[in-house]
Amino acid sequence: TAGLNTLAKAAGKLYFGSATDNPELSDSAYVKILSNAKEFGQITPGNSMKWDATEPTRGTFTFTNGDVIANLAKTNGQLLRGHNCVWHNQLPSWVSSGSFTAADLTTVIQNHCSTVVGHYKGQVYSWDVVNEPFNDDGTWRSDVFYNTLNTTYVSIALQAARAADPNAKLYINDYNIENSGAKATAMLNLVKQLIADGVPIDGVGFQCHFIVGSVPTSFQTVLEQFTALGLEVAITELDIRMTLPETDALLAQQAKDYQSVVQACMNVEKCVGITIWDYTDKYSWVPSTFSGQGAACPWDSNLAIKPAYNGIVAALS
Ligand code: G3I
Repeated sequence: TAGLNTLAKAAGKLYFGSATDNPELSDSAYVKILSNAKEFGQITPGNSMKWDATEPTRGTFTFTNGDVIANLAKTNGQLLRGHNCVWHNQLPSWVSSGSFTAADLTTVIQNHCSTVVGHYKGQVYSWDVVNEPFNDDGTWRSDVFYNTLNTTYVSIALQAARAADPNAKLYINDYNIENSGAKATAMLNLVKQLIADGVPIDGVGFQCHFIVGSVPTSFQTVLEQFTALGLEVAITELDIRMTLPETDALLAQQAKDYQSVVQACMNVEKCVGITIWDYTDKYSWVPSTFSGQGAACPWDSNLAIKPAYNGIVAALS
């Protein structure tokens, strides 16, 4: 076929992309497909730009692994999504168990976001500046940021990111906001407030970690609620897992599910692109997190395409 990115661009999207991670880059067969810009016009580092990877001790920054991914994107002519500045997970313990005054944590966030975003200035299409701020019931996640600064940490991070790279699109990224409900409403209310307050915000990322046979039904409607505010949206971490073992019936349903999710983005002009959370079952995060589940990606663990790939092609064509 023409390749997923080629098809996405022909249909007016900016990119079709994939997450990747540094340990996988020693697998040359894997890298060959990842680097094929006909398939992937964008990559996201799965781990190596996170806080624990970039600022393991206060004020000491390491960009070695993140730079490998950024350079790979450059070599391949691919866009880069930065992931992420502020998240409750994968924090170094000096942040997660630190006791900070509000003023001190503000400085910590400003320094982290401006240093990391500044390091990649000019190389990143979009940054997940804030990741997963909400619980599934739409309340704010109780983490060091919220508990110390209430909701103001969001604007602190966004403002620091904007100053560090004025051309990067700044996103808030979350999961379980793809269907109408309390969590999607909470995100909508947050971005409305940010816009009203003049805080820089360009987009909302919908992670889209789904389950075969139960992909959201109101996804397009939700996307449109966000684009109606003038924001862009993107599918940032798509995968659709199943209970193993995989069967022909499950793989066929998975193809339909991939098609319908990608179609929702196709139907929304300001849905700029789609990123799968790695392209192959060989390196998916799913089996290690959900015991007995997996086979969530469009390529199997032998790097061969699955019916899901054709589902995506059908939506992009
Ligand atoms: O870095 C350590 C390494 O030192 C150690 O030897 C090794 C032993 O298991 O673990 C390494 O840490 C792992 C890390 O990935 C880096 O490989 C963690 O155990 C593992 O839990 C971590 O998983 C990542 C997960 O985020 C953590 O929350 C996945 O690779 C990554 O794909 C996943 O990505 C997240 C997005 O960032 C946000 N949205 C959800 C998505 C899926 O969970």
